[in-house]
Amino acid sequence: MVMTNSSPLFPHGRWLVCRPKDYDVRYQINPWMDLSRTPEKELARTQWNNLHHHILRLGGWLEYVDHADGWPDMVFTANAGLVRGKDVVLSKFRHPERAGEEAFFRQWFETNGFSVHGVTRGSFEGEGDALFAGKKLFCGYGFRSDRAAHEEVASLLGVSELIPVQLQDPRFYHLDTCFCPLTPTLALVHPGAFNEQDLKQLERSIELVRVSDEDAVHFVCNAVVLGTDVVLPAGCPSTYEALAKRGFTAHPVALSEFIKAGGAAKCLSLKLDNKGV
Ligand code: ARG
Repeated sequence: MVMTNSSPLFPHGRWLVCRPKDYDVRYQINPWMDLSRTPEKELARTQWNNLHHHILRLGGWLEYVDHADGWPDMVFTANAGLVRGKDVVLSKFRHPERAGEEAFFRQWFETNGFSVHGVTRGSFEGEGDALFAGKKLFCGYGFRSDRAAHEEVASLLGVSELIPVQLQDPRFYHLDTCFCPLTPTLALVHPGAFNEQDLKQLERSIELVRVSDEDAVHFVCNAVVLGTDVVLPAGCPSTYEALAKRGFTAHPVALSEFIKAGGAAKCLSLKLDNKGV
């Protein structure tokens, strides 16, 4: 049964996660994936459990989709789709290596009472490339999602303010690798992932906390925000300090084995009651 409001026990809402069962790097669809540096399975499980534990401890409510064998990237549930209320726009993956995940995610959403929609104009990789901050929907295009698909998503979900930005660095191929709304009016950003014009556009739309290049490559923008608590990758002290100055508490977690596939904390979770942080 779908509950759209967060319960007092879980004030920061519900998230969809996928416990790693067949997680691996078996192909290369982004520059982080290297077939000669595959993840250590046991360590990946430990890191995932630790992330899971932090989200629960900080008041997140988790829902689980089973990991289907043969789809190693399915752990990155941010790419399942984009949810608003009881509606979800299902992802249409750019690469055939991930396309088989769509049927499993569709089944999960249908079983759990969501109205499932789809795009017809190009590819769309869900919350990986589309992030709400309040009523505004920030969308990244260029590598995995198409601009036309974002427009369809906005109209399917009744979004009136769409802010499309082009991603220009292949290492930051999804918007959630370089941009993270913290509140409806504040976001973390890696400026190097955007061209000058789009960075200005971001600046006009939301106040930005800029991260260093060094922290950006540790995936520091790939964070799970639970109120004023932020769960994010380990090894980025200057960003933790910047967050503290804004009243946020950083909770670093080691996610090296997932960064080997090009993902971290945010990629491993999908917001199910998306109110825009
Ligand atoms: N290996 C996966 C891919 O390239 C990683 C996905 C990361 N997800 C994200 N939301 N950034 O598709």
